[in-house]
Amino acid sequence: MRIGIYGGSFDPIHNGHVALVRDALASGFIDCAIIVPTVKNNFKQFSMTLPAPYRYYMAKAVRDSLADKGLSDIYVSDAEFGIKGITYTYMTLGIMTDPDFMTEFLTAQGVKKKKAEGPHEYYWIMGSDTLGTFETWFKPEEILRHATLLAAERPGDDVDVEKAADSVRENLGGKVETFRLNGVECASSEILRSGDFSAVPEAAREFIKTHELYTERTKLKGVSDAAKERFFECAVWMYPYLGEKRLLHTLNVGYLSAELAVRFGADPDKALIAGALHDCAKELDIDSQREMAYGYCGDLFTDKKLLHSPAGAVFARDGFGEKDKEILNAICYHTTGRGNMSKLEKIVYLADKIEPARNYMDLAPIREMVKTDLDEACRMTALAIKAKTESNGKVIHPSNVDMLRDLGL
Ligand SMILES: [Fe+2]
Ligand SMILES: [Fe+2]
Repeated sequence: MRIGIYGGSFDPIHNGHVALVRDALASGFIDCAIIVPTVKNNFKQFSMTLPAPYRYYMAKAVRDSLADKGLSDIYVSDAEFGIKGITYTYMTLGIMTDPDFMTEFLTAQGVKKKKAEGPHEYYWIMGSDTLGTFETWFKPEEILRHATLLAAERPGDDVDVEKAADSVRENLGGKVETFRLNGVECASSEILRSGDFSAVPEAAREFIKTHELYTERTKLKGVSDAAKERFFECAVWMYPYLGEKRLLHTLNVGYLSAELAVRFGADPDKALIAGALHDCAKELDIDSQREMAYGYCGDLFTDKKLLHSPAGAVFARDGFGEKDKEILNAICYHTTGRGNMSKLEKIVYLADKIEPARNYMDLAPIREMVKTDLDEACRMTALAIKAKTESNGKVIHPSNVDMLRDLGL
C-alpha cells in the first residue's frame, strides 16, 4: 500500500487538517492516510495545551465521523506514545515503517492481512507552509530515506511549493510530490486565541464540550511548569493501562482537582497529579490490585470495587515514580474518603465524583456548590452516595463512616 503519514499536534484537530488529508487521498498518491498526534515536539516545551491522549482520542472521534460519511482509509495512530522525550519526525517514521509495526497496525484497523503485510511505500504529508523549512528539520536525509514528501500546494500561498520541492530534490536527493489543496485556511493557534471553534469538526467540538477542554480550567493557572510536564507524562504513562473512557475521566479529575486547589487554597501541583493518577490501577487484574492494596494499607480494603484506590497509590508510586505521600493518600482514599481528610484528599474525592464527563446523576447542585464551599459540596456528594449504597443494601466502608461522621452525617 502507499501510506501517507500526517504528524502534528492536532490541538485541536480542525477543518484544515481534514481538508489536507482528504485532498492528499484524492491526489491519487496514497491509498490511506494515518494521522499521528505528537506527544512532545521540539519547538516549545508546552506548545501543546492538552496531553496526548486527549488529542489522540479527539482525532479518532473525527476519523469515526468521517468514516460514517464515507471518507474511509483514514486512521489515527498512537505510534509516538512510546517515544521518551522529544519526538522528531525521523523517529516516528522509523517506528511506523517497521514492517511488523505497520502490519499489526493496519490489521487492527480492519485492513485485510495480505494487504496489511505490504510491501508499503511511505509518504510524509505536509502543509503548504512547511516544505519551505524542511531542510532545517532534524535529520532530513533520514526522513527522506523512509518516505517521499507529499506537500500541499494551495493557490495563493506565500511559499512557492514547486521551488521548495526542487530545492529538497537537489540539495538532499529526496523524493517530493505535490498535490492541490482546496481546503480552508485555519490554524489551531488562531482557534485557541480567538475562542472561535467553528472551524473544528463537529465530532471534535462534541468531544471538547464533554470534557470541557480549552477552558480556563485546562489552562492550569497556578500550576508549575514542572507539574504540567509531569501531568503530560503521566497521561501517556497510563495510556496502556486504561481504556479511553477511564483515562479521560482520570485526566479530567486532574484538571478539576487543580482548579479546586487554587480555589480553596490547596497545592495545585499536587492536586493535578493526584487527581490525574487516582484511577491508574482500576483496569489492572484484580489479583494485582489486591496485592498492591495490601502493600499500602493491609486489609483495610477488601471489596473488589475499592481495591483500585489503595492499589492506585502503589501503582503510581512504583510504576510512575510518584513519591509524595500526600498525593498517594489522596489516591488511596478517593473512593471512600476517611476521617480527618486533608484538603487535598477532599478535593480529589469530590473531583472524581463531579468531573465534567460524569453524568450518573444530577450533579448540577453539587457543581454549583463547589464554586464556593468545598465542605458542603463534599457533604452533598457523600450524602447522595450513602443513600445509594444503603438502597443497594450494601454496607458502608469504615473509612467512609469516619468521613461521614466528620461531615456530621
Ligand atoms: Fe476510582
Ligand atoms: Fe474515578
